[in-house]
Amino acid sequence: MANEWGPLEGLIGEWESETGGLDTAYSHSQSQVLGSPYREKCTMKPFGPVDNGSQILYGLDYKSAMWRGDEENPFHTEVGYWLWDVATGEVMKGFVVPRGITVLAGGTAVAGATEFTLEAALGGAQYSIGENKYLAKNASSLSYKATITIGDGTWSYDEVTMLRMNEFDEPFAHTDHNTLRRVS
Ligand code: HEM
Repeated sequence: MANEWGPLEGLIGEWESETGGLDTAYSHSQSQVLGSPYREKCTMKPFGPVDNGSQILYGLDYKSAMWRGDEENPFHTEVGYWLWDVATGEVMKGFVVPRGITVLAGGTAVAGATEFTLEAALGGAQYSIGENKYLAKNASSLSYKATITIGDGTWSYDEVTMLRMNEFDEPFAHTDHNTLRRVS
């Protein structure tokens, strides 16, 4: 049977990385920009089809969590869905960051793609960012861009979230990257 999940097929499974992730963010507790190594666990479960009229989507239900050092609670988590439309090659990642942020990022990719890019922008017509009132005033997410690379038993992401922060005159690049390996 044809691969309904297209470029998302290589993301199906359970994934982990030991320290290897790197986050760059402004730390309020330390009043400075910090680079923080992290470890990560991620699960991606396939589902579909989802029919929107004549549009047919296949997707992955995902959860990810990241920890710094030996901290007990993750310092960042995401839940959401990856989606792919075989007819158009549209690929999407819709997710929630539990700071009161939702993102629908999108791009295009062919079925066998091993690299693709997803983007969203504050106020974007299709691929947009929603945020709470406090963040809109103090630390607003202007844009999100993630490049995904699929390897043999691994996948990587490299993402940049541009933030308009009260602490800086210019937009600040909050960045994250990691490579995960399949554990089942
Ligand atoms: C692997 C992914 C990510 C990690 C590990 C991460 C981690 C962090 C960390 C450590 C902070 C600093 C908190 C502090 O010490 O004050 C932060 C702040 C922030 N992050 Fe992320 N983040 C990630 C992805 C994202 C994404 C995708 C968005 C939005 C689309 C986002 C939006 C924000 C915002 C708005 C803040 C600022 C909060 C504030 O200044 O009060 N982050 N993040």
